[in-house]
Amino acid sequence: MTTLTAPSPGFGLGLRPAHYAALLETRAPLEWLEIISENFMVDGGKPMAMLDRLRADYPMALHGVALSIGSTDALDRNYLKKLKALADRVDPLWISDHFCWTGVGGHTSHDLLPLPYTAEAVRLLVSRIGQVQHELGRRLVLENVSSYLGYAVSDMTEWDFIRTVAEEADCLLLLDVNNVYVSSVNHGFDPLDYLAGIPAARVQQIHLAGHSTHDDHLVDTHDQPVCEAVWALYEHACRLFGDVATMIERDDNIPDLPDLLTELARARRIAAQAVTAEQVAA
Ligand SMILES: [Fe+2]
Repeated sequence: MTTLTAPSPGFGLGLRPAHYAALLETRAPLEWLEIISENFMVDGGKPMAMLDRLRADYPMALHGVALSIGSTDALDRNYLKKLKALADRVDPLWISDHFCWTGVGGHTSHDLLPLPYTAEAVRLLVSRIGQVQHELGRRLVLENVSSYLGYAVSDMTEWDFIRTVAEEADCLLLLDVNNVYVSSVNHGFDPLDYLAGIPAARVQQIHLAGHSTHDDHLVDTHDQPVCEAVWALYEHACRLFGDVATMIERDDNIPDLPDLLTELARARRIAAQAVTAEQVAA
């Protein structure tokens, strides 16, 4: 497989303020950290001082939530300028955001809203991703979101949509395995069909996370450990996509750092076994 991605740096965590002190004190065994870009789009002060201290110890990936690549509003040039300035400061492994829109007509939602899966939406995204990649001077990495409702106008599967956009825009992918699982339960598709439809050469990063269970649907809450079904899907992803940078996202009910490192160790074991098994089978 000819990969288009940067080499995997290994295993990381999403940087959260609850772990700042522990990370500075212990130099925890992590190969990289993912930071939320918008939290550091400021000129200076405490957040940037903390960022610089941690960046001295860890490579970082930038992960944004406000690019709104799927909106029909014009791209926010000021936002892109700030993102570029942050990238110049951090020298990130890569820059990611989501396959979503977060607002239209000047109104901003704080939700990552799903896109209609149509040829028209493909054209919109390909054009906008091209502009962003030109501005940033690098390939953009985009993540699949979890969803709870679909659009009647969608005439392709989510995975066909993502593959088509990625190939036509020549961008990379952040595969959130928990989001695949959550959406598969909510919409009733087979998550293995989803993974089979993702172009392996473009998978730069994997997210793992927990969700909460309701009567007839799952919600992507990032407040629980990774569940057994998602671990099983992750093993399958490792067999398909090989050695891919993997991290756990935890945004609420956040455990102490050693507990998250223990959870991440399971990802390391699964990935090592899956990649070895594929090499033996090849
Ligand atoms: Fe994610």
